[in-house]
Amino acid sequence: MIIKAGGQEALQLKTDVLAVGVFANKATKPQKKTTKKSASKPALSLAAWAKPLDKALGGLLLKEVEIQGFKGNSGQSLSLHTHGKIGAQKIILVGLGSSEGQDAQPYRLGAAQAVHLASQQGAKNVTIYLPNEGQIEAANQVEAMAEGCQLSTYKFNKYLSDKTPRVQVKKAHLIQTGVSASKASAAIRRGQQIAEGVALARDLVNETPEGLSPIEFAKRARAVGRKCGLAVTVMDEKKLAAERMQMLLAVSRASSPYRPARVVQLRYRPTGKIKKHIVFVGKGLVFDSGGLDIKPAAGMLNMKLDMAGAGCVLGAMSAIGQVKPKNVAVTAYLGCVENGIGGNAYHPGDILKSRKGITVEVNNTDAEGRLVMADCIDYALTKDKPDVLIDVATLTGACMVALGDTTAGVFSRQQDLAEAIKGAGQEAGEDFWQLPLNDRLFGQLKSDIADMKNTGERFGGSITAALFLEQFVDKRADWAHLDIAGPAMASKSNAYTPKGGAGFGAATLTRYVMGQS
Ligand code: BES
Ligand code: MN
Ligand code: ZN
Repeated sequence: MIIKAGGQEALQLKTDVLAVGVFANKATKPQKKTTKKSASKPALSLAAWAKPLDKALGGLLLKEVEIQGFKGNSGQSLSLHTHGKIGAQKIILVGLGSSEGQDAQPYRLGAAQAVHLASQQGAKNVTIYLPNEGQIEAANQVEAMAEGCQLSTYKFNKYLSDKTPRVQVKKAHLIQTGVSASKASAAIRRGQQIAEGVALARDLVNETPEGLSPIEFAKRARAVGRKCGLAVTVMDEKKLAAERMQMLLAVSRASSPYRPARVVQLRYRPTGKIKKHIVFVGKGLVFDSGGLDIKPAAGMLNMKLDMAGAGCVLGAMSAIGQVKPKNVAVTAYLGCVENGIGGNAYHPGDILKSRKGITVEVNNTDAEGRLVMADCIDYALTKDKPDVLIDVATLTGACMVALGDTTAGVFSRQQDLAEAIKGAGQEAGEDFWQLPLNDRLFGQLKSDIADMKNTGERFGGSITAALFLEQFVDKRADWAHLDIAGPAMASKSNAYTPKGGAGFGAATLTRYVMGQS
């Protein structure tokens, strides 16, 4: 989509649709004790911008607002033909809900809704005006609007015969006040680059298990590296064996040699001084059958999503490579493995020696993610010695049980890091909730014949999984673990996210890094 910035004068532009956002608490007059007399007055007083438009339309706009009971509630809209009285053929009012939240979400969602509503009216181009209520910086509003516009077009149509795009609109003009034209253009570019990263992460999750082997994943990562200026190194199984990543290789074994494991490293280095080195590690289980502890059919059905952590990390790296934040170096690892079944599969009861040296008794082959992640985390910490390591994984069904399927779990002992991630999540419109690294549960992982077991009891399963990973974390680095099992796939759509792979986390990681620069 072509997205441009404009000032308030752009309200006069020739366009198919002018979409105007209205916040609910600004649409209605402050609630006074109404007498019969004042109740007969129009229920709405739109902001100052509406007056000239209403005047140009001979008072029709505010009249329709009253007749249709438009209050600016989220999901509400109103459309009006202008009969050539202004530059736009149609006006659409888009309800944005309350403006009391201190985040960019109404701008992201409102812009995406504007595109869909305009598209339903057959528009090819749309001018979007969402009022600046001063909750957040104007540039961040524009950035979120661009992200929303771009993602409103997302559709995974690779396997559909009918390639009709999700929206008709090809061009959006974003009006903003309180920000210079050059800053607005830069914000639009950033919003589109983040959206591109999110879309990439969605494509990877939506791809079929057959279509995304570890080798194919690595190929796609190389392409991202070329496009976004990132250095990419791919480790094959020979190299992984030389690096003693034996837990990762045990998980992969039943799928080798057909779909052998790959660990991909991507590097972003800023020009100028590096003040902080951040490492991301993503779980890239291209398919999780459960292994010999095989999953029941219903539990296996969606298990192509089990690479969403790696997908989100690759999406973030794509955006970071293009946004080019200063002063931060970012190194990413994608642990791309299939958890298959076969005569060569690793067994429940096996004892594996991790790269770090800790021995692990496998009491469930379906708790494979932590085995793969532990070896990758240890590799990253010993090779890169980063200041911060954030790992992202669809690690446990238990996290979904705890938080539902729209919220990710955050685990960290460094409260400032947890807060920074939650803050970046809020900017990105992605929901995170902190869960405790509760030492009382660690006893569940005690083994009689090895240093540790790979699973504990059912209760607190997302916490024991996090505690397992923590054993592989070097105390010198700040560490956070993000369990995205729930939100990796959207079970419901919204204006900028269709059902399916959500690309969850890519926008948050990108904004986290931008916030450190
Ligand atoms: N990939 C799954 C976790 C998962 C479940 C992600 C549902 C998304 C949706 C993980 O590898 C797994 O199988 N975890 C087990 C752990 C158990 C064996 C301790 C689980 O959650 O049941
Ligand atoms: Mn599993
Ligand atoms: Zn898994």
